[in-house]
Amino acid sequence: MEERQLGKTGYRVSAIGFGAWGIGGGLWHGSHDEQSAAALRAALESGCNFIDTALAYGDGHSERLIARTLKEWKRRVTVATKVPPKNQTWPALKGVPLNAVFPADYLKRCAEQSAANLERPVDLLQLHVWRDEWLKDAAWPAAIKTIEDLIAAGTIKAFGLSINDHDPASALNAVRSCDLVSSVQVIYNVFDPTPARELFPLCRERRVGVIARVPLDEGGLTGAITAETRFADGDFRASYFSGSRAAEVAGRAEALRPLLMEEAGSMAEGALRFCLSHPAVSTVIPGMRTVEHARANCAVGDARTLSPALLTRLEAHAWPRNFYPKPSAPRRFPLSAIIGTLMLALWVVLGFIVPLGAGWVHLLFAAGVLLVIRAVVTGES
Ligand SMILES: NC(=O)c1ccc[n+]([C@@H]2O[C@H](COP(=O)([O-])OP(=O)(O)OC[C@H]3O[C@@H](n4cnc5c(N)ncnc54)[C@H](OP(=O)(O)O)[C@@H]3O)[C@@H](O)[C@H]2O)c1
Repeated sequence: MEERQLGKTGYRVSAIGFGAWGIGGGLWHGSHDEQSAAALRAALESGCNFIDTALAYGDGHSERLIARTLKEWKRRVTVATKVPPKNQTWPALKGVPLNAVFPADYLKRCAEQSAANLERPVDLLQLHVWRDEWLKDAAWPAAIKTIEDLIAAGTIKAFGLSINDHDPASALNAVRSCDLVSSVQVIYNVFDPTPARELFPLCRERRVGVIARVPLDEGGLTGAITAETRFADGDFRASYFSGSRAAEVAGRAEALRPLLMEEAGSMAEGALRFCLSHPAVSTVIPGMRTVEHARANCAVGDARTLSPALLTRLEAHAWPRNFYPKPSAPRRFPLSAIIGTLMLALWVVLGFIVPLGAGWVHLLFAAGVLLVIRAVVTGES
């Protein structure tokens, strides 16, 4: 297995890392701990030495399962985890202050919880969501100080960011200006190659490591999704591949199949080789819950990249879209609803004093009704 440098962290990580979202269960149905642990062991035996997990994956279950499995593994493994947003909103929304998402005491609590779940210091602590506007937030210095204290205390060893889905430009300023950021994690695959435009050149310049996530488009780039594919309610893929999306993904994947198969034995292999062909990428982290997938994926980390000619032809298959659920905007102060209701109340009171025929009383009534309707239509409450 080829090893690459993970930015400024000093870690040498395997080209294929282990994406541990699925083994946490929760939003991924069909996970079985024994099978997941066997998949992780198979990956380690095949040379994988990097694991990406998160406190949110099965509410710590992924971290604890990794800890259990690593007990029997004697060689060095780098484990990265993530602090979930306190407001439980993925991705982070514009205008929401840092203190609502990553207040300093919460960062510390989560890092300590992850270290306890993993039964070891956290090699790389990532923020699970990010917005560059937080660099100017009044709470940012306290957050940075907390990260530095956690490093000094040995609870964590390095710090990085997980970038919002399909929005690689949203962390450019952090990569450019924050020395503490050693790595970024970003969606990078045949359908979404946009990180290669600005983010990857900047990461190379700033020696920031790149963890390429969702390399298989949640399964879409393996060719396994067909027009008939349906997932159970509660599995996040039921919404990701909902309605006509499964058929659309299947059509796009079939168009890609002959190209990827020119230089790979399977679509999954071709999709992983695509990611590893970019020199900025430190490691690619497919999710894998079976021994078969783990062995097949790790075999791709042999340092063979796709040819420049094929990479150029794949560019035509980029497909900008976002199938992840959109978080709802925070509810705004219901000013128009309150003013409208007060106007209507005043109209009722005045109705006892002023003759109802007075034009301005009717105007008050109309304005009140309009304000309440506006609040309902615009979602204010
Ligand atoms: N916001 C964030 O920070 C964030 C968000 C999403 C993901 N991630 C990280 O990125 C990792 C990868 O993303 P992901 O797991 O969501 O999606 P993914 O890697 O794009 O796709 C995983 C899917 O591909 C299947 N698969 C894996 N290897 C295969 C092979 N050789 N042949 C056929 N199918 C194969 C898996 O099946 P099985 O499961 O049955 O093996 C699973 O259904 C996650 O595990 C997580 O660590 C981070």
